[in-house]
Amino acid sequence: MVVFLDRASFAPNTNSWCLSGSMADVPKDLLQEIKKLEEQFTVDTSKLKQISDHFVTELEKGLSVEGGSIPMNPTWVMAFPDGYETGTYLALDMGGTNLRVCEITLTDNKSEFDIIQSKYRMPEELKTGESEELWEYIADCLQQFIDTHHGDTPPTEGGKIPLGFTFSYPASQNYIDEGVLQRWTKGFDIAGVEGENVVPMLEAALDSRGVPIKVSALINDTTGTLIASAYTDPRMAVGCIFGTGCNAAYMENCGSIPKLAHMNLPADAPMAINCEWGAFDNEHKVLPRTPYDIIIDKESPRPGQQAFEKMIAGLYLGEIFRLVMVDLHDNKDIHMFEGQDLKQLRKPYSLDASFLSAIEDDPFENLQETADLFSDKLNLACTRPELELIRRTAELIGTRAARLSACGVAAICKKKNMQSCHVGADGSVFNKYPHFKARGAQALREILDWPAKKSLREEDPIEILAAEDGSGVGAALIAALTLKRVEAGNLAGILHPENFR
Ligand code: BGC
Repeated sequence: MVVFLDRASFAPNTNSWCLSGSMADVPKDLLQEIKKLEEQFTVDTSKLKQISDHFVTELEKGLSVEGGSIPMNPTWVMAFPDGYETGTYLALDMGGTNLRVCEITLTDNKSEFDIIQSKYRMPEELKTGESEELWEYIADCLQQFIDTHHGDTPPTEGGKIPLGFTFSYPASQNYIDEGVLQRWTKGFDIAGVEGENVVPMLEAALDSRGVPIKVSALINDTTGTLIASAYTDPRMAVGCIFGTGCNAAYMENCGSIPKLAHMNLPADAPMAINCEWGAFDNEHKVLPRTPYDIIIDKESPRPGQQAFEKMIAGLYLGEIFRLVMVDLHDNKDIHMFEGQDLKQLRKPYSLDASFLSAIEDDPFENLQETADLFSDKLNLACTRPELELIRRTAELIGTRAARLSACGVAAICKKKNMQSCHVGADGSVFNKYPHFKARGAQALREILDWPAKKSLREEDPIEILAAEDGSGVGAALIAALTLKRVEAGNLAGILHPENFR
């Protein structure tokens, strides 16, 4: 048996990719297609810089009274934790893929917590179903959690249990305990929710079941990530999610938020901003979109929205790849998958980011795992040169996502004039996609012109690090911080302060 091992696969910067020995065998017309894809998907240093600079202006625009594409939503989270927060809190995390209910206890030991949690799958049909079905499903999950973990003794005598609701969609908030959905993202498309405050919707479903819970804070996953990460690391200045969707939050000064001027808040008071940067460049001024990105947008439930997110987030990476493969079969002279039935591959959204991860992770020189993947999942047999093209396409898509992500991080740091800090990041793409971290770090280095490291162990001035659990622990901390704020008499942006007493 011949065992092929040790494929050199690392490509932090697409420009530095070099042909492996096996590439020499790739026919000329196929090599030409690879070259074309490289031209379409490569974002070079000067483009990265141009994108980041434009990003800074767009962040500022979002904070202005007139506004811009990036919502820059004030969250009414007005402090960082000091590590000494305490108490037990309930949190609900409604992300793109799962639903999670947690009970978090912030213990008396600095920066420590205990957590019990249950995960529930978010049924696919709910994402495009009726509003009531969504809230009823969530209320049922909460009820199940309470029944399992609290039996018949609710933690607050006679009263309702306060809940931190991590609702990871763009929502405008005049108060921390409300959230008006601006638009669905991540493939959700449920009528009757956009433009509405989602808190009473969830509470109505809870009330009708007699579940003793009230929503005390509505939180974005990025804000939760920022706060949870700062709980254990005071150098954390930005919270990011690179998962099914992508976004970031950071702490702004109220004096730099013109659209909040009417509130007369102290200029130096901190306010966490949920950027909703997925909407960056909805007007298509700088992002180098390929024909595949244009199709993704056109076929999505919200065309014209989330231009940046659609090039980066996990929901779309597999679909971009699928569109390239179908195009190579249908429209090019290279006869990719010649004579084979493409039925499986033609199904929209049939490949997710983990499919691309698996291709990039294939350690074998002959790309055997990739060949098996195509055969098992798509019923397609690939020639060796086709496998090389497949691998290179995955690398290009994954590398572009990481490099574009770095533009957002660099923009926030530039806007806040932060030369050095930690950025807490979470999400399936950040945690699981091969080389995403190293490619992002390389792009930051290029954008910010850092000199070469003196040793491998030396930290970068801005490091993107794995975050603490934002949607659980972050939500609990935000509830604790809000409680502290109510006790201190600062009731700005709190609709029902009585829920915190
Ligand atoms: C949502 C954000 C969220 C991000 C990551 C985006 O689609 O609009 O609110 O933070 O996904 O979950």
